[in-house]
Amino acid sequence: MRTDIAQIVRLEDYRPSDFLIDRVELDVRLHPTATRVTATLALRPNPEGRADAPLVLDGDEVNLKALALDGRSLPGGEFEASPQSLTIAQPPRRPFTLTIETEIDPTSNTKLMGLYRSSGNYCTQCEAEGFRRITYFLDRPDVMAVYTTRIEAEREEAPVLLGNGNLVEAGAIEGTGRHYAVWHDPHPKPSYLFALVGGRLGRVAKSFTTMSGREVELAIYVEPGKEDRADYALDALERSMRWDEQAFGREYDLDVFNIVAVSDFNMGAMENKGLNIFNDKYVLASPETATDADYANIEAIIAHEYFHNWSGNRVTCRDWFQLCLKEGLTVFRDQEFSSDERSRPVHRIAEVKTLRARQFLEDASPLAHPVRPAQYREINNFYTATVYEKGAEIVRMLKTLIGPEDFRRGMDLYYERCDGTAATVEDFLDAFAEVTGRDLSHFARWYAQAGTPRVTVKGTYDEAARTYRLDFTQETPATPGQPTKEPMAIPVALGLVARDGSALDASGDRVNAQGVFLLDKASDSVTFTGVASRPVPSVFRGFSAPVKVSLDLTNEELLVLLRHDSDAFNRWQAAQTVAMRLLVDLSKGTSVPDAAIADFTSALRAFMEADALQDPAFAALAITLPGEADIAQEIGADVDPDAIHRARRHMRRHIGQACLETLQDFRRSLAETGAYSPDAASAGRRALRNASLDLLAAADAELGEALAGEQFASAGNMTDRLASLSVLTTLPGDAREKALAQFEERYRHEPLVLDKWFTLQAAIPEDGTLERVKRLMQHPAFSINNPNRVRSLVGSFAMLNQMQFNRADGSGYEFLADIVLRVDALNPQLAARLLTSFSSWRMMEKTRRGKAEQALRRIAGKPNLSRDVGDIAARSLEEQNA
Ligand code: PHE
Ligand code: ZN
Repeated sequence: MRTDIAQIVRLEDYRPSDFLIDRVELDVRLHPTATRVTATLALRPNPEGRADAPLVLDGDEVNLKALALDGRSLPGGEFEASPQSLTIAQPPRRPFTLTIETEIDPTSNTKLMGLYRSSGNYCTQCEAEGFRRITYFLDRPDVMAVYTTRIEAEREEAPVLLGNGNLVEAGAIEGTGRHYAVWHDPHPKPSYLFALVGGRLGRVAKSFTTMSGREVELAIYVEPGKEDRADYALDALERSMRWDEQAFGREYDLDVFNIVAVSDFNMGAMENKGLNIFNDKYVLASPETATDADYANIEAIIAHEYFHNWSGNRVTCRDWFQLCLKEGLTVFRDQEFSSDERSRPVHRIAEVKTLRARQFLEDASPLAHPVRPAQYREINNFYTATVYEKGAEIVRMLKTLIGPEDFRRGMDLYYERCDGTAATVEDFLDAFAEVTGRDLSHFARWYAQAGTPRVTVKGTYDEAARTYRLDFTQETPATPGQPTKEPMAIPVALGLVARDGSALDASGDRVNAQGVFLLDKASDSVTFTGVASRPVPSVFRGFSAPVKVSLDLTNEELLVLLRHDSDAFNRWQAAQTVAMRLLVDLSKGTSVPDAAIADFTSALRAFMEADALQDPAFAALAITLPGEADIAQEIGADVDPDAIHRARRHMRRHIGQACLETLQDFRRSLAETGAYSPDAASAGRRALRNASLDLLAAADAELGEALAGEQFASAGNMTDRLASLSVLTTLPGDAREKALAQFEERYRHEPLVLDKWFTLQAAIPEDGTLERVKRLMQHPAFSINNPNRVRSLVGSFAMLNQMQFNRADGSGYEFLADIVLRVDALNPQLAARLLTSFSSWRMMEKTRRGKAEQALRRIAGKPNLSRDVGDIAARSLEEQNA
């Protein structure tokens, strides 16, 4: 274990800053390798801080050129500067001005934090602690200032200059090739929301009238020549703005809203005030280059960043422990938006699939942590599925418990009270406690206690009394630092379904008008009266809480739900549960009667014949089996990924064979001839058609190859082209290699499309894949410096290819370790992300577990690891319940 482990930051140690900064004036003279930044800070002692404290400003690789206090150049003896900090031991105990001149090199900034260059353009990324790479600062979110930014550059190099807020002045600098722009943001903000951009960019724009009648100019900046690919994002932005006005009464508050797409970005996008910066993958789309999933992601992320303007920017976080305050809430808001724009049940299923694949996985791993962590070594490692996705589930549960009207009233009160402040989770909950008069202290445990609760449900029918009782118990497994757990407050949305499918009008005690029962003890029960016949219970409708559920229902009973539950989520869930039972047994080598599989496939066929075409998007989800990683998670220990792969293939073949005609009918009846449209209904038809193709190929490789080949040749959009190529990649042989080569040739100049090509190949479940991935790293389109490239090739191999990443010979692990170490020297955040693919190593069978541990120890033992990678490696190796 490393001994120089970074210092631990603890929530309980929070104290207000000793100094505040009211105004920041930045003068940035852009230069490829020597950008000059002059920061003028209006500082004053914080009345809530310590009276005699030194002034300690944060820095990160900063190079100080000059320093003045109230205009007087400071002599060396009055301050101490290092790349990491600037300290003035005896600062004035009254308001004063500090002028700091620093020099930075954006070209060699491969960490993509602070000021850096992407395709020659200048841009910034400051969340969480990147502003300190631009100048010395009190780089913490509770220090909020009003910023004025002057940007200067060669006009030739950077004709476009953008900053936060509104443009106040711009012009040429006479006699030089340089020009400048001055931006002013009237809203006080933390430094992490600062941004600037300079470069050669194309632009699309439209104007938007807010609900109070103000005109706002919306603009998206992209690589010149790709303007038409930003139309969908611009439309999504407009719809997001309208939605936030209607759903939450929130209006935009500046004269312009700018979005810039860049090709090198560590995350999805960033909500800088009035100047969002996006990974171009979440802006650019055309039918020829983007899939339906890409369109849906663009819509969701555009909305997410826009919604941050209120949940994150107007109300920001007191400290980084409160990250879920902005992220969980904003994910909830973007999910609600997408649900309103698309199909709510279909979107809910997609949300839950991601939650289980990412958050449940994390919660069961050595990296498990509460939604509001109590401590961290590196905050960048806490932009996790737990903070984002489980954070959103908590907000949704709150809404379920108090109802939509009180939820809206609570949100309004929260915004009203906390506007312009840096708030906490307590401030958020207090608003809801106040409007409802409820005590939310037990509910608040969701923020503090890690781990996924398991709820066990047993039903008992009393024929004579015509009552039906549901007994619930809950238990949460130990997680790192939390060996014992308390019961959670779990909303259970439930209902009863008659076996013949008819509605059952039974009323349960302690079930509210919305059909929700609150399970807040270790065990409890609900009794329904007036139940005419033995029902099938439908619990956790709409996935009303982020828990795992054990049901004492037979497969037969579950298949009743698939056909008859009024709750679409549980119809889907029922099929998944049955499939999962069969897949787990098959994977473990437990004998599975042919009849059990046949019962399942015929129920699926009946569903397809009767219901599928009414909602193709739903049907596509219902006929898709749980993924290999989901099955591994369900098995939980001594996992053999090869056996899981075989089991899943076996099941797919059976379904394909049993439903051959129906699937072929879908292929015909869902074929579309008109122009491509990314709307949810059209996307749903394509999804069912392509899910059918996958099952047909599993049933009959020859047929699959013929159908996929035909679709590949004639596809009129990327969704269909990629889906057919994906099926072809599962079928070894010439056809596959030829199709891959054609695709490569066609999209040679489209990096984002080649990413898909990398991903498909990295996911091939065959022995040769690791060699293929290594070969592809030499491909001219690949770059170890570009996060999208690395994630689509290396990240996909580790995350999507269960069998080949977890090879018994350990070569998959060693490969990943090599890449993590290589990337760590360039971009620690990216390296740390890749390393999290080891997080479930402990559930592998013994040989693989040993190999994974070896690779992890090799990483952990290296000197000079970044704090990001050092932290993930150390936590991954920690004893689970230590
Ligand atoms: N705050 C961004 C979001 O969720 C994510 C992000 C975090 C981006 C850190 C960059 C760096 O919208
Ligand atoms: Zn966010």
